[in-house]
Amino acid sequence: MNVKIVNHPLVQHKLTLIRDKNTGSKEFRELLEEVAMLMAYEITRDLPLAEVTVETPLGPCKGHALAGKKLGVVPILRAGLGMLNGVLKLIPAAKVGHIGVYRDPETLQPVEYYCKMPTDVAEREFIVVDPMLATGGSSVAAIEMLKKRGASHIKLMCLVAAPEGVSLVNKEHPDVEVYVAAVDERLNDHGYIIPGLGDAGDRIFGTK
Ligand code: PRP
Ligand code: URA
Repeated sequence: MNVKIVNHPLVQHKLTLIRDKNTGSKEFRELLEEVAMLMAYEITRDLPLAEVTVETPLGPCKGHALAGKKLGVVPILRAGLGMLNGVLKLIPAAKVGHIGVYRDPETLQPVEYYCKMPTDVAEREFIVVDPMLATGGSSVAAIEMLKKRGASHIKLMCLVAAPEGVSLVNKEHPDVEVYVAAVDERLNDHGYIIPGLGDAGDRIFGTK
């Protein structure tokens, strides 16, 4: 299994609060946003830099600025929206694409229903965000949709994964680095991550 686990204490502390069934939607959303911001810090560690010079009040100073086209952040609707603002707090200039994929509750197969990407897809690096990587079907489909439009530098950032989901993404998209806060034990018969955190979309948006 090729996966990077972000085991920073703040991430792990907040993840445990998110998992707690007594955490309501408001707190759930706030914590998910905070964790997304912390994870984004880790996932952007190797962004390319260019040397620049600025004038401090006392004279010129060589420094660095992010190089190349602005990063693209792509939440998988709906639950990925819960991570978007956290990433944007850290990278406010990022462009945002949206991919609509939901999992058929019977077959567990991904169903695609929306895709809107920023311009110049081929020249940008992308981070696909979704709190849950369960069977992996939704993330694999989303990454395919991005690649079909020309993207070739893609990372996947999820909060909680099942081993099955990580393995499927590794198999179908070996070029995509996967970042998670935890890899849990397994999937249950309904495709839910055990112990997981329940249905992320429902907990974010208060639906059932
Ligand atoms: C959830 C979750 C992922 C997907 C993971 O979305 O946000 O997108 O399931 O499952 P998978 O790895 O087995 O594909 P869901 O289908 O519940 O849609 P929603 O976000 O609109 O609630
Ligand atoms: N989607 C969720 O929201 N939770 C799971 O455990 C699996 C898929």
